[in-house]
Amino acid sequence: MNSETKIIDEKLQGTPFMVDSKNSTNKKLFLESYGCQMNFADSEIVASILMDKGYSTTDKFEDADVIFLNTCAIRENAELRVRNRLNDFKKAKKNNPKLLVGVLGCMAERLKSQFLEQEKLVDIVVGPDAYRDLPGLIEEAEDGHKAINVILSKEETYADLTPVRLGSNGVNAYISIMRGCDNMCSFCVVPFTRGRERSRDPESIVAEAKDLFEKGYREVTLLGQNVDSYLYTGGGLKKETLTEEQKASAVSFAQLLERVALIDPLLRVRYSTSHPKDMTDDVLEMVAKYHNICNYIHLPVQSGSSRILEMMNRGYTREWYLERMAAINRIIPGCGISTDIITGFCSETEEDHQQTISLMKSIQFDYAYMFSYSERPKTLAERKYPDDVTAEVKSRRLAEIVELQRTNSGIKTALGLGKVHEVLVEGFSKKSDDMLMGRNPQNTVVVFPKGNYKKGDYVNVMVTKCTTSTLIGEAV
Ligand code: 5AD
Ligand code: SF4
Repeated sequence: MNSETKIIDEKLQGTPFMVDSKNSTNKKLFLESYGCQMNFADSEIVASILMDKGYSTTDKFEDADVIFLNTCAIRENAELRVRNRLNDFKKAKKNNPKLLVGVLGCMAERLKSQFLEQEKLVDIVVGPDAYRDLPGLIEEAEDGHKAINVILSKEETYADLTPVRLGSNGVNAYISIMRGCDNMCSFCVVPFTRGRERSRDPESIVAEAKDLFEKGYREVTLLGQNVDSYLYTGGGLKKETLTEEQKASAVSFAQLLERVALIDPLLRVRYSTSHPKDMTDDVLEMVAKYHNICNYIHLPVQSGSSRILEMMNRGYTREWYLERMAAINRIIPGCGISTDIITGFCSETEEDHQQTISLMKSIQFDYAYMFSYSERPKTLAERKYPDDVTAEVKSRRLAEIVELQRTNSGIKTALGLGKVHEVLVEGFSKKSDDMLMGRNPQNTVVVFPKGNYKKGDYVNVMVTKCTTSTLIGEAV
């Protein structure tokens, strides 16, 4: 997760990972991930499947036998970045005609066979629910066939697979608790690329978290597109058709949180993403009840205008969002809050934009990820509303909210001055190996002199200085 207020596209950097294989084969995989945390978690599943087949990973694509890009389709520029990256592989393919290039994830799902036909560089196309098929698809491609599987599943959760932790610091790990999304926000391509919502068996989630804890990890982040909608019914029963009895025996998100929190008080629990329309008080109460469930919520608002929220099909109004914020402040005082905001959505007027600004002023989010609206093919908005806010107006409005958020982040961070914060150490600070960095429960980065502390320790830090997004202090 990000400590700074920034536009999320800036952090959509491809990240290659390296791990040694368990078995011996000389095949090397270069795997690069784009987009959200869920994609990074999926790459750990992909690595697990291929390492079981004897692959090891490399961080130099020139050395690879197979290159996979795990892609994002959420905005047009995320896709452009992947297309540019594919061009980088042209020369590698010329030098090594046996080299296979595959596109995984949301962009693969969105473009399907178009990818194989248009992009001569791509040999393999695999959607987010078909990763178990990867070894077979690689074989097909090795035999000279174009290999594709973009079938979406109603059941797949990869529950039985143990992710290979890629690029891990050994302290924080992601655990995917559900897949897909049923919400159909009108701007969003995710329901088309990741399919129907399904919740993963809580036993397998708890087992994964326990295993991580035993291996020394001290923080897990439970991931889903809408975690508040998590409901495990066993037997694949549909939420809408449950009887009262079935509902009572189903596992809710609040109950799942409790089960994970009970593994050990030294295991911090985070989760993302919450949805304002589904976030109930029982979840907030569970966060308040357990010290190790972090007081931090990522609650995307998208817009401060009820008219725009209605067009976005978000299922709540400005007033509802403000009421949920009031509930958070009542039940979890001092909770860290971050959000997502889209600016320049179809028909957004200056007045709608001012509503977003006034909402930001009244809530004062700790962090915000802010985006210009990017029209996505097949979405409800694309079919129904013209993308009629000009690029200039979008970027001017975006600059305004980014500037406001910078001020707000500074104000929120400074509130931490003169207080003691519980910090889970994640490693050295970016600037110096004499300093350690970690986060407080509210997800703010805290930096302090290392003393005898190390990664994975909990340290109480008295904060004496700060920048807009970082607290600086000393262990007490
Ligand atoms: N244009 C711009 N931003 C988008 N998001 C989702 N779809 C779009 C789009 N078409 C943003 C939302 C979401 C975050 C993950 O990405 O703010 O919460
Ligand atoms: Fe997209 Fe809305 Fe689902 Fe989030 S909740 S993934 S924005 S459709």
